[in-house]
Amino acid sequence: MSEMDFENRYEDRIVAPTEIMGDEGDNPLRPRSLKDYIGQEKAKQNLAVFMAAAKQRHESLDHVLLYGPPGLGKTTLSGIIANEMGVNLRITSGPAIEKPGDLAAILTNLNDGDVLFIDEIHRISRAVEEILYPAMEDFAIDIVTGKGQMAAAYHLPLPRFTLVGATTRAGQLTAPLRDRFGVCLRLELYTPEELAKIVTRSAGILNIPIEPDGALEIASRSRGTPRIANRMLKRVRDFAQVLSNGIITLETARIALERLEIDELGLDANDRRMLSAIVKFYRGGPVGLETLAAAIGEEAVTIEDVIEPYLMQIGFLNRTPRGRCITKAACLHLGYDLPDAQDGQLKIEVFS
Ligand code: ADE
Repeated sequence: MSEMDFENRYEDRIVAPTEIMGDEGDNPLRPRSLKDYIGQEKAKQNLAVFMAAAKQRHESLDHVLLYGPPGLGKTTLSGIIANEMGVNLRITSGPAIEKPGDLAAILTNLNDGDVLFIDEIHRISRAVEEILYPAMEDFAIDIVTGKGQMAAAYHLPLPRFTLVGATTRAGQLTAPLRDRFGVCLRLELYTPEELAKIVTRSAGILNIPIEPDGALEIASRSRGTPRIANRMLKRVRDFAQVLSNGIITLETARIALERLEIDELGLDANDRRMLSAIVKFYRGGPVGLETLAAAIGEEAVTIEDVIEPYLMQIGFLNRTPRGRCITKAACLHLGYDLPDAQDGQLKIEVFS
């Protein structure tokens, strides 16, 4: 990868919802209990019932699948589940479990009730998935060691653990794996008001003085994602500290975010580049995902999982069977003129 590519990679930008360096794993900003977890009301209420019921019956919690765009707090929720159930949390990810033996080692080291969190569970291999089925369903694994005459089969009972699987794409899980989760919770992008509460809470923990409209300004540019909001808070603090008196006000937030090239809606240069490409090269669309990915030098999955959810939520992009189409609202935001819309399709005159 050239240096230029590296600079342009979406994951390394301040508005990337994926984890980057500096979003440290043992994060003091992560809430530890459901009562401190802001937003996701539906998921939270249901989860509270399932946990209370399991505790009353002195059972482990059923396996939980968390799905939704990155950065919304799936790892945080798994930590809360473990904490509220009073058990240990073990964290791994689909790509990190290379061989069935790796998973067998993790599973046999768990205690009764423990939570095993597997991030990006859609990326586990078929061979590993085969081990996971009986582990989830019967709390046992069958392993074979040696070859030929030396081969031996073992049936190993496992503790009654809770698997918490996280994925950005529930549709990519195989049906047998999906069916083994008793609880499926969909996480949604947060509203600016919810994010403002998260920013205010985080500022309190980090001892950053912040005014309510400063928090709301950061929140409304954070693309519905707490991970982005918390990262932006730290960068805005730097500007407030160096350029002003250290207090995050509406004005310091605006100045900082302008310097960071993040616009009022939270779009950065990369989002604008993708939307502009649809306008300039494909007259507003429809354009196929792969074609668009090649045009802007981005991975199709990054566009689908990371860039598009927010653009669709704010009504800037539509996914149609024929491809991606930009909306009138997006054109106006980018400063393109819209002479008229014909047959449901935008006819765009490009001025810049
Ligand atoms: N930090 C990250 N996500 C959060 C949430 N949902 N509530 C409170 N703090 C958070």
